[in-house]
Amino acid sequence: MKTINSCTAYAHANIALIKYWGKFNLEHNIPLVSSLSLTLDGYGTKTRLSAIDEEHDRFILNGNTEIGPPAIKVQRFLDYVRAQSGSTVRCQIESFNNFPTKSGLASSASGFAALAVAANSAYKLQLDPQALSRLARRGSASAARSIFDGLAILHGGPISEQDAYAEKIKDCLDLSLVIVQCADTEKTVSSTDGMVASAKYSPFFPIFVDHQPHDLEAALYAIESGNLSLLGETMEFSTLKMHSCCLTSRPGFWYWNPTTIRVMDAVTELRRQGAQCYFTMDAGPHVKVLCPKSESQHIMDSLKSIEGIKSIDVAGPGPGAYIMSEH
Ligand code: PMV
Repeated sequence: MKTINSCTAYAHANIALIKYWGKFNLEHNIPLVSSLSLTLDGYGTKTRLSAIDEEHDRFILNGNTEIGPPAIKVQRFLDYVRAQSGSTVRCQIESFNNFPTKSGLASSASGFAALAVAANSAYKLQLDPQALSRLARRGSASAARSIFDGLAILHGGPISEQDAYAEKIKDCLDLSLVIVQCADTEKTVSSTDGMVASAKYSPFFPIFVDHQPHDLEAALYAIESGNLSLLGETMEFSTLKMHSCCLTSRPGFWYWNPTTIRVMDAVTELRRQGAQCYFTMDAGPHVKVLCPKSESQHIMDSLKSIEGIKSIDVAGPGPGAYIMSEH
């Protein structure tokens, strides 16, 4: 067996401030819209890749050998890597998330970013950060953004596969996200299924797509000019439009639960009282609250006793994906 080096990589989750929702190309996983995110410290995936002399790759997630859709997705991703490298070596992929998997806390972003970095080294692809971001995108579009630290923009639209990559955005805001976990179960509608249904059925979907360039422009201007309230308001507008598309699919579906709504209410009330805080939700019930670092403790203290909350924590901007060891 022609072998590959073992490699362990680490990547952090990211949360979209301006959401990606909808695919231009399903096969190559090209998003229909561009998006903007913050890579978080503290929430990450560690992935070790090593050669095995077997017919199929073996994917072990948090100690459990996966079969079915998650394993197929990983295998397909590695088939692409092998096609690029000219190798036929199969591998064992051992991944550990230090936060809930498949619950809307962006585990696929950190998971595929860590896998892309590990595979790039193990199969000696020698990709630069832009190409690495493109590779991660094939596994999960949001993973393209986790290659980079802090804020990143992922290019989407009716564009070529070469143009669909993420890049880092410099910022001067001292941002925090309070992560409010509102359930401990896995989501029932995957983000891909949710996007496909929204695009097919929601009368609001074309509006979401039409508004996206303006929301991105406003968010980038807010970042450049240090205007947190403009960034926060634009972020809330983006998440509510994305979730409106889910609600107005046929049949409608929603990722929220009663705790989600209670937290959204509390954030709105805190803002009325003068705090700078704004909510965003992804394909799951959890609420992430954007605020200045200086206010994060106050926001956490004000939210923590809301009925139904499973955990509450604060995250700041985190590092990009990196190699931990190459043996
Ligand atoms: O990349 P995926 O398939 O995990 O989809 C991510 C979708 C959202 O989290 C809802 C939005 C985003 O831009 O991350």
